[in-house]
Amino acid sequence: MDHLLKMLDLSSKEIEDILNLADQLKYEQKHGMAHQVLEGRTLAMIFQKSSTRTRVSFEVGMYQLGGHALFLSSDDIQLGRGEPTEDTARVLSRYCDGIMIRTFDQEEVEELAHFGTIPIINGLTDFAHPCQVLADLMTIREFKGRLDGLKVAFIGDGNNMMNSTIVGCLKSRMNVAVACPEGYDPDPQVLDYAAQVGHFEMYRDPRGAARGADVVITDVWASMGQEEEAQQRLLDFRGFTVGDEVMRYAKPDAMVLHCLPAHRGEEITAEVLEAHSAEIFEEAENRLHAQKAVLVKLLGR
Ligand code: CP
Ligand code: NVA
Repeated sequence: MDHLLKMLDLSSKEIEDILNLADQLKYEQKHGMAHQVLEGRTLAMIFQKSSTRTRVSFEVGMYQLGGHALFLSSDDIQLGRGEPTEDTARVLSRYCDGIMIRTFDQEEVEELAHFGTIPIINGLTDFAHPCQVLADLMTIREFKGRLDGLKVAFIGDGNNMMNSTIVGCLKSRMNVAVACPEGYDPDPQVLDYAAQVGHFEMYRDPRGAARGADVVITDVWASMGQEEEAQQRLLDFRGFTVGDEVMRYAKPDAMVLHCLPAHRGEEITAEVLEAHSAEIFEEAENRLHAQKAVLVKLLGR
């Protein structure tokens, strides 16, 4: 594994190895065991969109591993003024040991990997959010004791989170059902992959997807960069709220995940979010541990 660009690039074994290392690092951190295996290593973090979890967990993670992280807002670096990605990649490769980038176009992340000579980590694009899905898989395994054979239902927009969840869960031998309104389907590349693997169903009715689910996942209806569509999306996603009505179709002990930030009363009710806050905030914490595992794998000597 040279980069983390999207779940499609990872093998099932690589995913499992990351999750195992993440569990180990979480254990070590909880028990005060130092693991400064990235001493002297530097991660550049380029942000073209806002972030709370990704920024803080990567920065804290690098610190805990003995390394250093640089926060580079695109407003402050020349990339934001039009310096080409290929030049940015070649320059940062000479100072740093890895780049984490949050941006819009997946192509930009792939281009960094093509022109740079150091590992690139996708911290969210319009197409994918692999770091989040690794944390989600870690959380499911923690609460359910396994991934194999569990049913995951993702209800909402066919966005970066739905794309990466479908691929990550199928690669972890889970069954996946999604429900999205017409016009909001996942990326065709992801649907092609799912069609090849099987164990995948798509519904227009959230209740169909939720039926018998062990895990129910949702995310915002309007992602970063889609703010102008928010009003239209409120209308188009009517009936897709994860609330008690939808949860009645899932297994009685189903867990609920949300990558956060959440819009209570839109994609999830305040009641369901609070009832499942133990899982949802453990999921947020696990961003730290899962990403530390990725950092050790990619930046470790
Ligand atoms: N879930 C997630 O990526 O959160 P941030 O946007 O706060 O980084
Ligand atoms: N789909 C959301 C996820 C935020 C972490 C977005 O892209 O804004």
